[in-house]
Amino acid sequence: MINRRQALLGGIVFAGSPGLIACSAQANPSVLVYKSPTCGCCNAWIAHLRESGFEVEPHDLDDMTVIKQRLTVPQEMWSCHTAIVENYVVEGHVPAAEITRMLAERPTIRGLAVPGMPAGSPGMEVPGYSQAYTVWSFGDAGRAAFAQYG
Ligand code: CU
Ligand code: CU
Repeated sequence: MINRRQALLGGIVFAGSPGLIACSAQANPSVLVYKSPTCGCCNAWIAHLRESGFEVEPHDLDDMTVIKQRLTVPQEMWSCHTAIVENYVVEGHVPAAEITRMLAERPTIRGLAVPGMPAGSPGMEVPGYSQAYTVWSFGDAGRAAFAQYG
């Protein structure tokens, strides 16, 4: 009877939780960013994330290759910074909107990457010039285009 009652209470709590879920979806996800201490564009990307409502915890590393290898970011996807948000890896100048979409959709991927440092991506703004670029998903299933910009 107690179990049933608890189950019932659980049901009530669950029924009441969509508001909580909506609330937590809007709560600021925390992003751990590994970057080189001398990288200015990394700081610009961090500012972009903060403006988009993310909490950011920056960590300077002298050797970025170690963390990229440890987090199994494919070498052809490498950029400057490497970040972790929840259980995903974010490599390079990925727009905050795509991180938000990934966290909402929860795809079975290792993470997202914008290889290199395309001009016009968040943190890589160049007045009057921008390049087309692809946001890739990567993981065990290989890579796939997640979003296209420009
Ligand atoms: Cu950069
Ligand atoms: Cu960077």
